[in-house]
Amino acid sequence: MNLLTIHDLEKSDIDNLLEKAVALKERHKRGIPHQPLKGKVLGLIFEKPSTRTRVSFETAICHLGGNSIFLSHIDSQIGRGEPIKDTARVMSRYVDAVVIRTYGHEIIEEYARYSTVPVINGLTDLHHPCQVLADIMTIVEKKGGYKGLKVVWIGDGNNMANSWIEAAARLGIELRLACPKGFQPDTGVLEKARAMKGSFVEVVNNPKEAIREADVLNTDVWASMGHEKERKNRLMAFKGYQIGPEMLELTKKDVMVMHCLPAHRGEEITEEVLEGPNSVVWDQAENRLHMQKAILELLL
Ligand code: CP
Ligand code: NVA
Repeated sequence: MNLLTIHDLEKSDIDNLLEKAVALKERHKRGIPHQPLKGKVLGLIFEKPSTRTRVSFETAICHLGGNSIFLSHIDSQIGRGEPIKDTARVMSRYVDAVVIRTYGHEIIEEYARYSTVPVINGLTDLHHPCQVLADIMTIVEKKGGYKGLKVVWIGDGNNMANSWIEAAARLGIELRLACPKGFQPDTGVLEKARAMKGSFVEVVNNPKEAIREADVLNTDVWASMGHEKERKNRLMAFKGYQIGPEMLELTKKDVMVMHCLPAHRGEEITEEVLEGPNSVVWDQAENRLHMQKAILELLL
């Protein structure tokens, strides 16, 4: 089984992962060892930078009794042009699962076609499923569950937004996204989500319209990795989409503010909100560790 997008999981898989991750967190806090993956090796192939995804996965496999091997594109032969399909077949002979962070989603799909061990998406241009699973875990922890909540996304219709759309559709979470014209989520992802029974996903342009009655408010950088050159144009296009104190005035007092990090303070979010009482970003980052463990246990 692979985890390339949230759609690889049934609702029951997600519910199991949430329950497992919460239990593993509790166990870890109480200092009880849990090492079901002794002798297992996790490979990590990263073509983009990472702090959270890399460190949480490497720590997770270590806690579970296994080991990890990290390859950046410059350390491996991928950087010298060795085909993905060859890398996938060779890596499968050594490691028990791989986490891949790359650009085009088709790259991870090709890798997965040739891999004989589970492949986990550590972020592509199109999806970031592991982050969204940790986000939902954080929501469950703070709000007691995800049922009946209104989740709002403000900003770029990027990989995070796409994975949120898939998760919301799968779990029946009401999701509203406010994205500027030209920066809307992937059309294919949206159409598939809307066709699912019980899904409620709406995309609007006006953040003030989207934010009303929000229980959870989510944002991310305006220029994702690979889009750095567009930053100047994007800063203009995203004017009015910043999560600041005035934006919070327009919604529920206890709205939970989320950001997958790294954040650009003064762009998509203000320092005041990121560091303020509504923000849960540090718990959200911590939960990456506990959710990665649940994911590794499920796939291995
Ligand atoms: N949120 C997230 O994936 O962070 P990193 O880029 O540091 O892994
Ligand atoms: N959307 C961001 C997420 C970083 C974790 C990016 O792709 O750069």
